[in-house]
Amino acid sequence: MQVLSVASECAPLVKTGGLADVTGALPGALKGGGVRMRTLLPGYAAVMPALQDPVAVEHFDDLFGGPATLFEAHAKGLDLLVIDAPHLYGRPGNPYSGPDGRDWPDNPERFAALSWVGAHVAAHGAGGWRPQVLHGHDWQAGFMTEYLRGFGAGDVRTVLTIHNIAFTGATDRTRIDALRLDPWRFHPEGYEFYGAVSALKAGLMGADALTTVSPSYAEELMTPEFGMGLDGVMRRRQGVLTGILNGIDDAMWNPATDPAIIRYDDPADKRHAKAALQTELGLPQAAGPLCVIVSRMTHQKGLDLVLETLPDLLAQGGQLAVLGSGDPGLEEAFRQAARDPNVAVRIGYDEAFSHRLIAGGDAILVPSRFEPCGLTQMYGLRYGTVPVVALTGGLADTVIPASPAALAQGVATGIQFAPVTAGALRSALARLGTLYRDPDTWSRLQRNAMAQPVGWSRSAQAYADLYATLTHRG
Ligand code: ADP
Ligand code: GLC
Repeated sequence: MQVLSVASECAPLVKTGGLADVTGALPGALKGGGVRMRTLLPGYAAVMPALQDPVAVEHFDDLFGGPATLFEAHAKGLDLLVIDAPHLYGRPGNPYSGPDGRDWPDNPERFAALSWVGAHVAAHGAGGWRPQVLHGHDWQAGFMTEYLRGFGAGDVRTVLTIHNIAFTGATDRTRIDALRLDPWRFHPEGYEFYGAVSALKAGLMGADALTTVSPSYAEELMTPEFGMGLDGVMRRRQGVLTGILNGIDDAMWNPATDPAIIRYDDPADKRHAKAALQTELGLPQAAGPLCVIVSRMTHQKGLDLVLETLPDLLAQGGQLAVLGSGDPGLEEAFRQAARDPNVAVRIGYDEAFSHRLIAGGDAILVPSRFEPCGLTQMYGLRYGTVPVVALTGGLADTVIPASPAALAQGVATGIQFAPVTAGALRSALARLGTLYRDPDTWSRLQRNAMAQPVGWSRSAQAYADLYATLTHRG
């Protein structure tokens, strides 16, 4: 089975969030099951120099405003096709925005180009290779189904994975020509979305199969509360939608082998990692749990609720250590909070520090307002760092709450709270304190957490089955 994954980011080459972790891990996870997945990636400034043995396989005289070359290449264990198009991707900053943090105004064209090349490879092949399935991720790949239709490649099957429906890739209808879209398909059955043009809507309507990254989010997407205006579309497409839970890279996230931490494979030895973290951050020893957070700082992640309930956590002898960046207002509020000697905050992005935090914490807080899957709560499980999570999306699907019954049966792995309010988080933190002060229960919780399967095997099989079903259907 040959699959082309179309993605705007892919770890470890280029990452802003969990999307990159997933697109980076899936090809390796699928290998054993006979699926060869290659990844089509924009040739960002940071990506081009990392390519090993690039071979030019295709040239485009005019790819949305300039010449482009498609390279076959390898990098960091990934099997890639990379679009070298300096007029679109040869820029500083992250994949979506410049150093000033503002989105590039031509993002619709930049990712339409990615989708167009994906469809081109699926229709015509590249370097003698052609996929049977074109698997795109999020709005950045949404138009692939429109272009494929234009190329007339009816034998290729398409899958679109929704990692976050909040981003619709919407733009003005005056761009229809510039985006090389068929103007006759500007209607509700095509890519029209409330009078605008939406790449995500195009893909949601056009793909043969839709997936999202947890079963609960698949249900939530069909409701007005979570569907971001696309819930009607999701209800219509319900028959082709499945929720397939993300896994984590359990080689990279393994407390017994992690080179970034003081290693442990038993929760009893976790205290060394905790002490090292406290020393690193200048935190005193304390009676309560050390809570950690590794997160983008956006409204989605509910971190304002942590600020609101921080006095309650500190009052019970707890501590907080945070790594993140994003919204300037939240960054500043956390900086202020760090004046308390029991709070440490680092604004920025730091892979190695994220490992030390997750290893050294007693609990990891993920109070998201919505969370399609979420990866850090799974890192927490793997490291015996008890997740305290909102009851939503993938957080609901990965954490077994410490109810009296679940504790009695020995299956509980964390704490869940609902609704996503400061009041409910406050109660969850109180519960955390109670459980933490009962060493037997606490270590049982940690052991259960560490024993949870959080790798890719089951979900990789689900993707492989989906590709097989699609291609056999003919
Ligand atoms: P999202 O994709 O919505 O940001 P996920 O939980 O799916 O949320 O994935 C976030 C990924 O990014 C995780 O791998 C997490 O460890 C990582 N991450 C987020 N913020 C930081 C940071 N400041 N430093 C290092 N890693 C981070
Ligand atoms: C998105 C979601 C996150 C998910 C990630 C990978 O960024 O916000 O919940 O884990 O994609 O699928």
